[in-house]
Amino acid sequence: MSAIIDLLRQEHRSQARLLKALEHQLAVFDRGETPDYEVFGGVLDYCRTYADRYHHPKEDLVFDRLRLRDPAAAEAFGDLAGEHVALAELTGRLAAAVSDVLAEAEIPRVRFHSLARDFLEHYRAHMRKEEEIFFPAALKALTEEDWKELDGRVTSPADPLFEGAAEERFGPLRKHLLAWDAETKAAEG
Ligand SMILES: [Fe+2]
Ligand SMILES: [Fe+2]
Repeated sequence: MSAIIDLLRQEHRSQARLLKALEHQLAVFDRGETPDYEVFGGVLDYCRTYADRYHHPKEDLVFDRLRLRDPAAAEAFGDLAGEHVALAELTGRLAAAVSDVLAEAEIPRVRFHSLARDFLEHYRAHMRKEEEIFFPAALKALTEEDWKELDGRVTSPADPLFEGAAEERFGPLRKHLLAWDAETKAAEG
């Protein structure tokens, strides 16, 4: 077992919740109503300050070791670092569009929609591919010593949204997620 893979999977679950929240706001936008742009902004802020800075680098580190232990498996996965760069670009593009909307700049609805859809689809496909191909291959190929050594090299601060008290700037997003969880539970119950 690997503590790093456990953490990566847990981060994927958090990320999936955020994507759902964003998708929900996109549906509001698509109905012609005003979405909660604070949710959009918060999700993208989280992607840039946590996923891009701490989640993806941890994966890159594990992937480098996989390339060493099982080059064929790494090759079969493809270009992990390249996918991370592409995701960061999509995040930046959507964040810029959200800023434009908030600044009341004219941005065609269809463009905003397609940027958000692109972002959601790429993020989800990327995480799925990691869960289905990358993580199992790493668990199979890396040794106990590898994991121990990587554990010592990984730097990961507390998650600013999901761990402990959310950082102040993530407060509104956290509140939104909790309210939404409660709503979903009530609807299911
Ligand atoms: Fe990744
Ligand atoms: Fe990931």
